Amino acid sequence: MAERIEVLLTEQDVDKRIQEIGDQISRDYAGKNVHLVCVLKGGSFFMCELAKRITVPVSIDFMSVSSYGGNTKSSGVVRIVKDLDEPLAGKHVIVIEDIVDSGRTLSYLLDMLGSRGPEDVRLCTLLDKPERRVVDVKVDYTGFEIPDEFVVGYGLDYDQKYRNLPYIGVVKFD
Ligand code: IMP
Ligand code: MG
Repeated sequence: MAERIEVLLTEQDVDKRIQEIGDQISRDYAGKNVHLVCVLKGGSFFMCELAKRITVPVSIDFMSVSSYGGNTKSSGVVRIVKDLDEPLAGKHVIVIEDIVDSGRTLSYLLDMLGSRGPEDVRLCTLLDKPERRVVDVKVDYTGFEIPDEFVVGYGLDYDQKYRNLPYIGVVKFD
């Protein structure tokens, strides 16, 4: 089925907002180092752009998770496909995500990372769909709150397509 992409947030909208979040993080972590943990693959475009705009010292690491399929999916238990390379002990960690939807993945991930002895852990997401929340998650930095529609671009995919779009679009089937 052919789909069409309708622009929701332009490249300029996204760039401007990422600059604002970068400024905010730089102020909040003045005098400290931040350790950005990118959740692959969706968070990667956002993390790279954000990291360039943070003025305190930055280190980065990556992890990849997938939800357990079938009946256990609703439990929110996630499988670590690729774990971090570095320990988190004593670090000021910011988890970088593309989107918080039900909140299941992040809720599990934040608990897991919190148990590794970081100084603190915050969550930064480019997009948030609050209407879809099933599990409560505290989001510290949000790019945009968006309506309950399936979006792509800036790291987000539909069937592994469209991650490379420099804007956020809604997928339309018609
Ligand atoms: P949840 O918050 O645990 O439900 O899962 C969020 C994950 O679902 C995100 O990291 C995305 O990979 C995926 N996701 C949720 N909504 C969308 C969307 O609108 N477009 C693309 N991926 C989405
Ligand atoms: Mg994701």
